[in-house]
Amino acid sequence: LASASRPSLLSGRQVLISAGPTFEDLDPVRFLGNRSSGKMGFALAAVAAAMGARVTLVAGPVSLATPPGVQRVDVRRAAQMRDAVLAALPGQDVYIGAAAVADYAPVETQPQKIKKTGETLAVQLVRTPDILAEVAAHAARPHLVVGFAAETNDLDTYARDKLRRKGLDLIAANDVSAQGIGFESEDNALAVFDAERRFDIPRGTKTAVAGALLALIAERLGTRA
Ligand code: CTP
Ligand code: CA
Repeated sequence: LASASRPSLLSGRQVLISAGPTFEDLDPVRFLGNRSSGKMGFALAAVAAAMGARVTLVAGPVSLATPPGVQRVDVRRAAQMRDAVLAALPGQDVYIGAAAVADYAPVETQPQKIKKTGETLAVQLVRTPDILAEVAAHAARPHLVVGFAAETNDLDTYARDKLRRKGLDLIAANDVSAQGIGFESEDNALAVFDAERRFDIPRGTKTAVAGALLALIAERLGTRA
């Protein structure tokens, strides 16, 4: 952590981070999930704390240890993640949406195990709330709202579109089709966009990449009181 973080760059700042997947339950034994390990969000939390920030980490279901000095809130579903993020929002200087939030959840969670009957099974899904867009439009909006975008193609176009559409200050895009980076990997590489520019964070450990992204964030917070 020492090499990835410059201590005190974020001292006195409050940073709220969401991390990991969400699991949307179909019944007591089955869920819809995704392949996020949570490692990028946990690395951001660890490095932000090492840089002096007061860090709140809203974590979906992951098997990762809480980084030292980080206040962690565990959630499961997208709706619970939204509630936890909004509850923690007042007073935050920065929100980083690093979670891989499910886009759709089952309309109903069956109270009992769904039994095998016909040859096909249709499950109706409904859009989840967009937590990041809600944070960016909230009355208690942090000074900086940072999103992530996992893309397999047309990264610049999709990332810039999400930045604009969700009202973000920065978006960190990763190419999940690239070998050895992104989901379930130890390494990552990011293309970070603000309204005007693109900054490339080269491939490195998630801790190193977190340090570089937090340095960009700290620079933007500047001398703001
Ligand atoms: N996000 C969120 N709430 C959702 C969906 C996404 O807060 N219900 C956030 C993610 O945490 C991430 C950003 O939005 O910071 C972009 O997520 P992504 O899945 O790339 O974008 P979507 O807007 O969901 O669009 P799509 O999946 O169709 O590309
Ligand atoms: Ca999505």
